[in-house]
Amino acid sequence: MSNTSSPIERTLILVKPDGVRRGLVGEVISRIESKGYNVAALRLLTADKDLLATHYAEHRGEAFYEPLIEFMSSGPIVAMIAEGQRVIEGFRSLAGATDPTLALPGSIRGDLARNQGTKVVQNIVHGSDSVESAQREIKIFFPNL
Ligand code: RTP
Ligand code: MG
Repeated sequence: MSNTSSPIERTLILVKPDGVRRGLVGEVISRIESKGYNVAALRLLTADKDLLATHYAEHRGEAFYEPLIEFMSSGPIVAMIAEGQRVIEGFRSLAGATDPTLALPGSIRGDLARNQGTKVVQNIVHGSDSVESAQREIKIFFPNL
């Protein structure tokens, strides 16, 4: 376990179209803030497919890639930068496992999402998975920050 000298990190969090449609933006922000992280930037946008292709480049070629891009462009999303010591892994823990059926109760996905037979799993939030991903993804959604 890292000690208290961990540097402050930044991570890119998205509330996906299912989360916005279901009115869960406040709930997600509340969990981020209640944990003690700082929301440093926030915007509502409808992402176009070019932006999403850049964001999800690592998944190109996967069976779920096209449905993922369709889903993520299907309505407004909220993009945020959250800051704090070890926030990258901390938010992944708050979000829970990718598969919402397996995500533990207490996590965002475990409490608020379930499998619904859609072509791609809808799981409310995205969070960067490494320092490198966070830097890359923040530039996509917040080019000036
Ligand atoms: P995210 O990037 O959205 O935070 O999610 P993650 O790291 O937990 O999962 P990742 O492997 O990066 O996948 C990105 C998103 O693609 C959809 N997905 N569907 N087998 C499937 O149906 C499948 N696998 C991935 C999910 O929406 C996942 O969050
Ligand atoms: Mg991911």
